[in-house]
Amino acid sequence: MLESLSPFPADPILKLMGELKEDPRENKIDLGVGVYRNEQGDTPVLKAVKLAEARILENEQTKSYVGPAGNLGFNKAMSKLILGESHQTLIENRVRTIQTPGGCGALKALADLVGRAKKGAKVFVSQPTWANHEAIFDGSGLEVKYYRYYDKANSRLLFDEMMEDLNEATSGDLVLVHGCCHNPCGADLNQTQWQQFAELANQLGFTPFIDVAYQGFGANLEADAQGLRVVADQCKEVLIAASCSKNFGLYRERTGVAMLICDTPEHADVALSQMLAATRANYSMPPSHGASIVEEILNSELKSVWVDELEEMHGRIASLRKQLNQALKARGAHQFDFIEQQNGMFSFLGLSEAQVETLKKDYAIYMVGSSRINIAGINDANVDYLADAIVAVI
Ligand SMILES: Cc1ncc(COP(=O)(O)O)c(C=O)c1O
Repeated sequence: MLESLSPFPADPILKLMGELKEDPRENKIDLGVGVYRNEQGDTPVLKAVKLAEARILENEQTKSYVGPAGNLGFNKAMSKLILGESHQTLIENRVRTIQTPGGCGALKALADLVGRAKKGAKVFVSQPTWANHEAIFDGSGLEVKYYRYYDKANSRLLFDEMMEDLNEATSGDLVLVHGCCHNPCGADLNQTQWQQFAELANQLGFTPFIDVAYQGFGANLEADAQGLRVVADQCKEVLIAASCSKNFGLYRERTGVAMLICDTPEHADVALSQMLAATRANYSMPPSHGASIVEEILNSELKSVWVDELEEMHGRIASLRKQLNQALKARGAHQFDFIEQQNGMFSFLGLSEAQVETLKKDYAIYMVGSSRINIAGINDANVDYLADAIVAVI
């Protein structure tokens, strides 16, 4: 039977990483893979995580199953981190949260839930969006539609166009928005735009679906959640997928939450039961370790250790954005102010595929063909070389 299969096209980023590994040039720069890197190019375990792990190792009593919804203390702490300590939806008991294997697991749990509510429901995603959105939604039998979001040639957000395209969405459809630090373009909605988006959702009846994978990487934990909180304040039904991969550096521990907000506690209970039925048939129960770490951090004095480390990661990214733009300006390239204004780890340089190829071939600078760069791959030692190379190819 399996011989009838044809090979699935290789992920371009994996191919790129293979080429990078083989490249003997000492000055090579990796701007491809989307993980945070420090000045030395490493993705270390956070200090707060190490300390929490030591406590867990000492105190853990069992390796029995954690239960279908996962670690309840973690779920509660994450709900508060995302929505705020005393958000109205929490007070009204309209939120249900489950622990999932990473942000991807959360997107999948919510997509399956939507499929149970309405087979083939439409989900509108930004053009461009993170590639796995399409794959996950398609895999859950949803119909993926697109709204204009970012003009790569002119490096600007297309908010009016987004709103115009979303006029097509109606009750029973979903609209996915990145909570902050849009991947891949780095351009986010401002507060007025979030407000207008929430009003449009209420006017047309579609359900907002927010993916928050980088809380704390944009400005800070509170500011990065303001947009989604505006939506949660105003819309009766909201879905939220969140990841702890980046802000806790727990990539391989597969830690995240799927949250649903319904109009009443009764509807929330019913939706939760369906979401758990979907995850039961998928991975059954989530893994324990990552969520135990986050629970320990968020519910102890380790929280301030973590917040400091998160601020350090954010500060480094913001400073690199500035350094790169200033280095480009110093070389006469004045069109890159957007790099300094955008948020999170990613921006498009706005280069052609041929220019991206030249950067790889002639300068050992690796990025995906769309010219999306991981800002955290830059450091003090390579920023001038990078600016020289970009100016040389444009
Ligand atoms: C926009 C976005 N959503 C979700 C995720 C999922 O992250 P993970 O499943 O690794 O927690 C990522 C990871 O890169 C992302 O960029």
